[in-house]
Amino acid sequence: MNEKDMQIYRDEFWNLVHDLRDNVLRDFMEFFVKEIGDEYFSSPGSRKNHHGYDGGLCEHSVSIARLAWKSANQFCNMGIAVSKDIVVVGALLHDIGKIKAYHKPHEEWEYTADASMIYHIPLGYGMALELFRKFNEQCELVEHTLDEKKMRKILHIILSHHGNKAWGSPIEPQTPEALIVHLCDMMDAGVKKITTTGPYHIYHT
Ligand SMILES: [Fe+2]
Ligand SMILES: [Fe+2]
Repeated sequence: MNEKDMQIYRDEFWNLVHDLRDNVLRDFMEFFVKEIGDEYFSSPGSRKNHHGYDGGLCEHSVSIARLAWKSANQFCNMGIAVSKDIVVVGALLHDIGKIKAYHKPHEEWEYTADASMIYHIPLGYGMALELFRKFNEQCELVEHTLDEKKMRKILHIILSHHGNKAWGSPIEPQTPEALIVHLCDMMDAGVKKITTTGPYHIYHT
């Protein structure tokens, strides 16, 4: 992806963040970018399976966040309680473990030792937990901190986004927000792969 396209997805990321209604989640996402934004915006979405190039992680995450927001909005319009803010933040963060799963020592993205020994889902869970704690520590007012309930919902999205154990998730989606992100993840990765480099193998990295 060239720099111009990467900027389009970065802008889209910020549009999604600025549209969050929850001030604390918005502040957290700004904190997230200050902490690990450079790596997040340059990482690939996978090594070869889908979005396997610089900026692919952001493109993939933004696309899922848009799909997931539209799905959540549809359910909200039907009177079903789904949090659009949790869905968007969960989608933007679902694959952050990939920041530690790939590196580019030469020309191509390669797996890190963490990728095969730990896997991007537990890596992402650990990173999010650390960021939540750090964010709350630097908040001056208690009402500006992220509460346990929201943190748990987002961590659950990270852990369950592959849908089941056979596909690499330790737990299945148990909230409407997590189910929406999981299904949008499969759709985005699958459509991208089929329309670019060929048949999609579910949750291959
Ligand atoms: Fe994933
Ligand atoms: Fe994903």
